[in-house]
Amino acid sequence: MNFPSTRLRRLRRTEAMRSLVRETHLHPGALIYPLFICPGESVRKEIGSMPGVFNLSIDEAVKEAEACAALGIGGLLLFGLPAEKDEQATGAWAEDGIVQSALRKFKNSRALAPLVLIADVCLCEYTSHGHCGVVARDGDHYEIENDSSVALIAKTAASLAKAGADIVAPSDMMDGRVEAIRDALDVGGSEQIPVMSYASKFASAFYGPFREAADSAPQFGDRRSYQMDGANLREAMREIDQDIAEGADMLLMKPAMPYLDVIRAARERYDLPMGAYQVSGEYSMLHAAFQRGWLEPERAMMESLLSIRRAGADFIVTYFAKDAAKVLG
Ligand code: PBG
Repeated sequence: MNFPSTRLRRLRRTEAMRSLVRETHLHPGALIYPLFICPGESVRKEIGSMPGVFNLSIDEAVKEAEACAALGIGGLLLFGLPAEKDEQATGAWAEDGIVQSALRKFKNSRALAPLVLIADVCLCEYTSHGHCGVVARDGDHYEIENDSSVALIAKTAASLAKAGADIVAPSDMMDGRVEAIRDALDVGGSEQIPVMSYASKFASAFYGPFREAADSAPQFGDRRSYQMDGANLREAMREIDQDIAEGADMLLMKPAMPYLDVIRAARERYDLPMGAYQVSGEYSMLHAAFQRGWLEPERAMMESLLSIRRAGADFIVTYFAKDAAKVLG
């Protein structure tokens, strides 16, 4: 059947018709909003490169979380800015750590019950040098040690689960961390808590604004010895295989827009629930264009989110979660 008997435009003529045949949908319950929690009270400090995103003290974070729950957003991804940093990332696994304290507060609030509380598990916000693991130095040379980092990361995950995290999400990219986390959770009585692995996380320039938000820029070197090379799709599949074998319950792909092909490949290959993280730089670059009037904010935002769902992500971590939930009503 060819033109003129076939006319694909017939199904595009009205919004009702387009709605009927739409293949991909967005809904607020599949959006996750990141929060950056800092010490103090009544702190609400905007991130320069991320309009509308703030460092929030726990009291302010509770209000922000309530707004998210009211909008029907699915969950929150929690990051912490500790009062003090050291070489062992003590603030990451301390019982009274900043995210642990926030989780206990959140768990006390009835209004927040509909939200899935996801704790990002990493050391970079808590180490004095800003790397995601333990640094071993030998003169000018340094290494980010894998196995000693994994021990601290597992301890961090267990501590966050105990404080009330519904899901723990390791974002460090050390080898073997999913298995170590699963063991630590099980031993600590958190056998019901799922691990959402940032299984294929690429070393990306698009994390730049986040490092301002989370105060986690490495003081020397970069993250390329642990995060993946952006050129490697097959290696991403190996990372995912490994994390599934180690016991990951769900996957998080990251960044999103520059890696939609990787999301698609993972969707076709794996049956685990899979999310994608529209990272800070993706948000900042869209906002920069909005500020100049170069892109229509609402349409560009929704199109960017739809592209990630169409690539195969079940849910999306995004700084646009509140704005998109408002549009979706
Ligand atoms: C921690 C972490 C990072 C992000 C999420 N978890 C930063 C990094 O790896 O440098 C980036 C998120 C974003 O850019 O929005 N390791």
